[in-house]
Amino acid sequence: MNRSKIAGIGYYVPERVVTNNDLIKVMDTTDEWIQERTGIRERRYGVKHEETTTTMAAAAARIACERAGIQPEEIDFIVFATLSPDYYFPGCGVLLQRELGITKQEVGAVDIRNQCSGFVYALSIADQFVKTGTYKNVLVVGSEMHSMGLDFSTRGRNVTVIFGDGAGAVILQPSDDPNRGILTTKLHSNGTYAEKLSFINPGAHGGYHKKHMEEEVDYGYPSPDTYGEIFITPKMIADGNYYPNMEGQFVFKMAVSKFPEVIHEALNELGLQASDIDMLIPHQANLRISQFVQKTLRLRDDQVWNNIQKYGNTTAASVPIALCEAWEAGKIKEGDLVCLAAFGSGFTWASALIRW
Ligand code: UT7
Repeated sequence: MNRSKIAGIGYYVPERVVTNNDLIKVMDTTDEWIQERTGIRERRYGVKHEETTTTMAAAAARIACERAGIQPEEIDFIVFATLSPDYYFPGCGVLLQRELGITKQEVGAVDIRNQCSGFVYALSIADQFVKTGTYKNVLVVGSEMHSMGLDFSTRGRNVTVIFGDGAGAVILQPSDDPNRGILTTKLHSNGTYAEKLSFINPGAHGGYHKKHMEEEVDYGYPSPDTYGEIFITPKMIADGNYYPNMEGQFVFKMAVSKFPEVIHEALNELGLQASDIDMLIPHQANLRISQFVQKTLRLRDDQVWNNIQKYGNTTAASVPIALCEAWEAGKIKEGDLVCLAAFGSGFTWASALIRW
């Protein structure tokens, strides 16, 4: 069986910088609170009605193609991870195909809905296709346009201050060197706490979620024998119940336990130690989470890449953006052991070990 390697990588972040002080103008928060609790100083927001999750993904994908030495026409499969798709359906995979101008090829495109661990899941799926010889140039993308769907009032401050927009992409190809490329990927989930970090409206749950919510919310559903008004009711709109919600401390506690666990699982399979990692790219959820993981694994500062300070949490885009930045900065060299790890909504979590 082949191994797959990252043959090209690129990222895109919108030009517009939004600082913590900019957010103070619209909600009750402070620069001190945000920096102390999350490490974030600023994030990027896309240009509304011009940039979307798809257009940002295309920008990152074009760079990845160029660095892989291929034309977009040579892509033979697309795997797209996002939680902020342009449309409810169809998914961003096909929109990206169109945006890249490669519809003639009619290659397959799939969307991954695994939130913060979406890119590592997407990479693992692409890896299976390349390893088995099914595809030769798989485009794997993580992209998010969070700024379109956040609550910019004080009510949403615990979520809104964290998130930013951006995209990252890689081209996965078969590796000619059996010792290089993706060595292993580990994927996990536990749906018990699905609602602890969720964005449930609009959705077709029709009140199903009530048994899973600690606090029962009246969404104003019509009587069960009335059709329509299923995805979004007038009451949801009136109450502003169409934003993501998160029980931050609960998520934090799970994250700091699952990150090290899934990294060790991958290392153990290959008989490696945490000290063998040359570069850890953790999902950029919170600088405090990354620092906790670094400490648990006893890694030096130069073995971990963080950029949440500049971009906030870009969910599925955070791992490829950080990976690309670290590589561009010359911090990842041929032969290095690179570890990707992520945890988020679902809960889902994942890791990947790559011999660069
Ligand atoms: O990427 C996907 C996975 N996500 C994560 O891993 C996120 C994990 N969780 C976290 O990063 C942290 O829990 C947060 C950064 C979200 C919150 O930090 P925290 O230290 O857990 O704060 P908290 O939620 O316990 O809130 C503490 C206080 C509350 O006020 P009271 O009740 O103590 O009076 C909040 O209302 O901070 C208040 N607060 C804020 N104050 C100023 C919440 N958000 C803000 C804000 N500005 N933006």
